[in-house]
Amino acid sequence: MIATSTGDFRLAARRRLPRFLFDYVDGGAGAEATLRRNEADLEALAIRQRVLRDVREIDLSCTLFSQRLSLPIVLGPVGLTGMYARRGEAQAARAAADRDIAFCLSTVSVCALDEVVAASSGPIWFQLYVIRDRGFMRDLLARAKAQGARALVFTVDMPVPGMRRRDAHSGLSGPWGGIRRLLQAAGRPGWAWDVGIRGRPHILGNVAPVLGKASGLEDFMGWLAANFDPTVEWRDLEWIREAWDGPLIVKGILDPEDARDAVRLGADGIVVSNHGGRQLDGALSTARALPSVAEAVGDRLTVLADSGIRSGADVVRMLALGAHGVLLGRAWAYALAAAGEAGVARLLDLFAAEMRTTLALAGARTIADVDMSLLDPR
Ligand SMILES: Cc1cc2nc3c(=O)[nH]c(=O)nc-3n(C[C@H](O)[C@H](O)[C@H](O)COP(=O)(O)O)c2cc1C
Repeated sequence: MIATSTGDFRLAARRRLPRFLFDYVDGGAGAEATLRRNEADLEALAIRQRVLRDVREIDLSCTLFSQRLSLPIVLGPVGLTGMYARRGEAQAARAAADRDIAFCLSTVSVCALDEVVAASSGPIWFQLYVIRDRGFMRDLLARAKAQGARALVFTVDMPVPGMRRRDAHSGLSGPWGGIRRLLQAAGRPGWAWDVGIRGRPHILGNVAPVLGKASGLEDFMGWLAANFDPTVEWRDLEWIREAWDGPLIVKGILDPEDARDAVRLGADGIVVSNHGGRQLDGALSTARALPSVAEAVGDRLTVLADSGIRSGADVVRMLALGAHGVLLGRAWAYALAAAGEAGVARLLDLFAAEMRTTLALAGARTIADVDMSLLDPR
């Protein structure tokens, strides 16, 4: 079947991945209320249909942090994507470069930053978590700088990990996890050969230097769980601003007051995000949160948004609500799991085509034309 939507890629990913991996990507925190709201609130926004406006030429290009991109889309940080496809981060970064958009590498990727930079000719952003060991963070920052990362995405909505029920059910965590994962992998021979065997080593490439040669994935996950820092406060971030002279983007803002703090910190951008409903279950959807956050910061920094974006029309909706660009999460992870680099490239083509059609039918020609007036409040 030819994939014509994120939903198609999702189904293909479900067929290809062992259950513990599919549920890890697909699931959210708690009862998954925020996960559902993200998609539903976005989809519920009606776009204004406009006619007779000469829409032959549509231009989707934009500039984010002085980088010219063909679409206002970044492949956002998604951990462990090297487990969904063989050396998955490198494959996705190549697809992003090929379509002239940026790729953001997660701290907890399988491929280390240098592997991804070597694989791709496009702009690479690097995402950093707050980790207890500040020396390790400094080291990661220095490596990101040396490798030419074009922006730092600093994720602040995970002082503690969200409660993910599906991971306990699937065997990703909990008793007999190892044996259950092995059995699930045996039921997916295509994945087991391509990724499980030929995709090794399955380590967290960016974290490996502190763990030495120790370890399977569980040791790495254990290290991370022990090293997330719940004590962090805004004033702890000042040194990051000093240590990083490139674009600094704070990811995980949902509240206007926090957005003002990000401005005070001297951030260049924020990502309005609830981590795709994987952290605080019950939090507002980003579609509902975005307008007040965008208004609170005005034009003092660049506003990006994510969570629940599944189509080009959703990208247009986020832009109309006040975002300058968006990050994709699950959408590209499903496409990668389904068909590797070619899957991600096809997904980006689908998004671009949908954006073009949506703009044309809404009577807009460029990204700059998109504002709240594109939405129909009736
Ligand atoms: C499987 C998975 C892993 C993720 N890992 C990270 C991560 O390592 N760092 C980070 O900042 N965000 C991470 N996120 C959150 C995404 O960057 C993004 O905020 C979220 O996926 C957006 O929601 P959506 O998937 O509904 O589009 C992850 C999301 C998923 C689904």
